[in-house]
Amino acid sequence: MRRIPKIPRLLQAVLVVVFFHAGFVLVFDYLLAQVIPASLLTMYMFFVVVGVFMVFTFTEDSAREMVAPIKALVEDPSKRRTRNVVFAIVPLIAGGFAYNHMLPRFEAPLELRSIHPAPPSSVKIGDKRYNLLTLENPFRETETQDPERFAELVAEGAAIYIANCQYCHGDKLDGKGPYARALNPTPLNFQDIGTIAQLQESFLFWRIATGGPGLPDEGAPWLSSMPVWSDFLSEDEIWKVILFLYDYTGHRPRAWEQG
Ligand code: HEC
Repeated sequence: MRRIPKIPRLLQAVLVVVFFHAGFVLVFDYLLAQVIPASLLTMYMFFVVVGVFMVFTFTEDSAREMVAPIKALVEDPSKRRTRNVVFAIVPLIAGGFAYNHMLPRFEAPLELRSIHPAPPSSVKIGDKRYNLLTLENPFRETETQDPERFAELVAEGAAIYIANCQYCHGDKLDGKGPYARALNPTPLNFQDIGTIAQLQESFLFWRIATGGPGLPDEGAPWLSSMPVWSDFLSEDEIWKVILFLYDYTGHRPRAWEQG
């Protein structure tokens, strides 16, 4: 019976590492259809390499066997030619990596911005302080109690919207106003279920009244072009425009949990 030649231990270790690398990429990129982030892959591979190293050098014999090819390469007089080649190639590869790393990059830096950061519990606008945990739209009750008045308020809200907001948020409230293309972050699309449908009216009041500058740091206030509407609109006008946003899109504001 022919014996299968034994794979050298060092090569075994390298193969195991390569196997894990390919495995991670396969599982993430193909099975989960999510490209694995480079930082995560680096972290996983770090643990794999450490683990492989520990297993492959567990006993003194195995450790010796593992480094044997390296030792031979450095010490064995008959391997002179290979040694010279390896010693020339390794610095070249290292140099290539370093060079690549130092090359200037022209991609935009990654910006981590929270679109809906947690609001403060209260906010001061002018000289009035509002408690955002209990704040409600004073006109909301007309929707059930006085539908005619409600329709009037919505129409007033629509007029305020067209005069002030559509330039950015669009006349269909879809975030595609004439200025929108020039802005980054883009004006939010209120039709999308990811925006006002997820939010309470008090959240909208805070966002509209204090605009981009009112955002906490995780919302990157320095990037937002959303104006500070408390400088231009009265409290009532803001509440009316909020009525209009929900009425036009057909979304319901998120309500306070009962109890
Ligand atoms: C100059 C362009 C511009 C105008 C005008 C503007 N907005 Fe905005 N608005 C933005 C941008 C950009 C964002 C997204 C960045 C942010 O959240 O601050 C935004 C965000 C919002 C949000 C937050 C929505 C969410 O899901 O968090 C609300 C609410 C809002 N705008 C309402 C209004 C209303 C109401 C008006 C008119 C009174 C208005 N905006 C006018 C640019 C504008």
